[in-house]
Amino acid sequence: MSRLAPEPVLAEAPNASPAAGAVPRHVAIIMDGNGRWAARRHLPRVAGHRAGAKAVRRTIAAAIDHGVAWLTLFAFSSENWRRPEGEVADLTGLLRQYLRTEVAELHRERVRLRIIGDRSRFGPEITRELSEAEALTRGNDRLQLIVALSYGGRSEIAAAARAIAEAAAAGRIDPATIDETSFGRFLFTADVPDPDLIIRTSGEYRVSNFLLWQSAYAEFVFPEILWPDFNAKHFEEALAEFARRDRRYGARSD
Ligand code: FPP
Repeated sequence: MSRLAPEPVLAEAPNASPAAGAVPRHVAIIMDGNGRWAARRHLPRVAGHRAGAKAVRRTIAAAIDHGVAWLTLFAFSSENWRRPEGEVADLTGLLRQYLRTEVAELHRERVRLRIIGDRSRFGPEITRELSEAEALTRGNDRLQLIVALSYGGRSEIAAAARAIAEAAAAGRIDPATIDETSFGRFLFTADVPDPDLIIRTSGEYRVSNFLLWQSAYAEFVFPEILWPDFNAKHFEEALAEFARRDRRYGARSD
C-alpha cells in the first residue's frame, strides 16, 4: 500500500482508456493566466486569482455536464511558494475561502474532493479543513475532483522512489518485482486513472512539473484563453479536440 496515497479511491481498472471519439474519463487542467488577466485590466493579481476561482466553479459544472469522471486542477505548485509573500497569502486566503464557501455545494452535487501534494505546508488549519472536506465528500460518485496543492511531479516521483527503497531495505518488497504498475501505487494517484486530456490555458506550452509520470500518454490541448475567461464552451472545444485525436500509445494505427 502506498505511503503517499493510503486510501485508493478507484475500484475500476486505471488503465482502461476511453475509446476514440469518447469523452475523456480524466481531464487535468493547468489553470494559467490569472496574473495576465488582471494586468490587462489594471487590477491586482489577486483579482485574477479570484476570477480564476469562478472559472473553477464553471469548469466543475461543465465536467459534470459532460460526464467526465475525474477532473484534476493544478491550483498551487510546489514552485508557487517562491512567489512574493503577499501573493502566496492571497492564494492561501482564497483557498481557505473556497473551502468554506464551496465544499457544501460540492457535496450537494455529489462531488468527491481529494487533494494531492504537500498539504501540510499550508499550515494546520487549512490541512485540517482539507482533510475534513475529503472525509465529508468521500462517498460521492458523480465527479472525482482532485486539487493539486503544493504539488510537484518530480518530488512526487522522488518520494515514491524513496518509499519503495525503504520498503525494499526493510524486506517488504522484492526489487525484482518493481514495475510501472507497482511503482504507480506509490504515487499520490494510486488507483486514479491516468489523465486522458491535459488542458493548459493562456497560450503557454509547458508541463510545469504537473503529473509527470501520469501524463505519459495524455493528449494535450492549449487553448489561447486566460484561465479566468475559461468557460463551458472552451471546455467543450477541448473535449471535441480530444475526440478528434488518434491515440495510438506508441503502436501503429494501420
Ligand atoms: C496561474 O496563473 C494560476 C495560479 C498560480 C493559481 C491558480 C488558482 C486559481 C485558479 C484560483 C484558486 C483555485 C482554487 C481551487 C481555490 P498565474 O498567476 O501564473 O498567471 P500569469 O502566468 O498570467 O502570471
